[in-house]
Amino acid sequence: MITEKSSCPAYFNGRYMALDEVAISPLDRGFLLGDSIYEVIPVYHGVGLGAERHWQRLMAGLQAVGIESPYALSDWPGVAAPLLSADEPAQMLYVQVTRGVEGSRKHRFPVLAEPTVLLFSTSFQPPIDGSYAGCAGHLQADLRWQRCNVKSTSLMGNVLAYRQLYTDGVADDEALLVRDGRVVEAPSSNLFIACDGVIRTPPLDNILPGVSRSLVIELARGEGLKVIEQAPDIAQLTAADEVWVTNSYEELKPIVTVDGDPIGSGRPGPVWRCLLERYQALKR
Ligand SMILES: Cc1ncc(COP(=O)(O)O)c(C=O)c1O
Repeated sequence: MITEKSSCPAYFNGRYMALDEVAISPLDRGFLLGDSIYEVIPVYHGVGLGAERHWQRLMAGLQAVGIESPYALSDWPGVAAPLLSADEPAQMLYVQVTRGVEGSRKHRFPVLAEPTVLLFSTSFQPPIDGSYAGCAGHLQADLRWQRCNVKSTSLMGNVLAYRQLYTDGVADDEALLVRDGRVVEAPSSNLFIACDGVIRTPPLDNILPGVSRSLVIELARGEGLKVIEQAPDIAQLTAADEVWVTNSYEELKPIVTVDGDPIGSGRPGPVWRCLLERYQALKR
């Protein structure tokens, strides 16, 4: 569970303050148009897991949409440092850079504005451990845009996937997004399946290049497992021995049913368990 206290530490446009002191203009293009890029970095005892990859993804996202980064890649960790504490077991660092504030609302360029920068940290507890019983998955059409590799705050397609779960009465289950007959991603996590000891995960074409995805691929290969970057079709997904999704908050979350049918034994499997343990070891 992430607890976002209004008093949690923040950085806003060059100043450190409490989150509830941050005052964002209603004319900020991030607010009006979703014209911004964000990042979420898990931090354990003050040390970011995969932090360098998260900062690189932030820079790549800003470049992809033509927002000039207010900081160089090597400067970002120093900006974030005062928000993090070695005494905190787990913190989530949120970073957002918008195209900035203009004098009036408009879509068109040029945009004469300085980027808005917001960072804040919250404490959290990783929600999944070895005793986790598994999550139900539901196939849904992928309604998102064609630049899902960009970590933009324009997240309506992702939000609607979760809203669908909610209106179906299964708000805490997981949506598995299907595009052109292939299961490509979940609304806030990457997909993995394991079948006969071979792991498959969709390739980086129009999905978010998840940092936990990249760590899990490396861990699996380190265990001698074969990993193929290929999106499963629905038959491959439902015939898999194991399915799990990954993100920086839920880490590795097993999916034990799809549309009511069990995956494998219907319980979290040994490949997931092994990789979850290896993932925990990365934090030390
Ligand atoms: C659509 C989507 N895919 C995958 C991920 C996982 O990314 P990461 O592992 O870097 O947290 C996220 C994280 O928010 C996401 O929103």
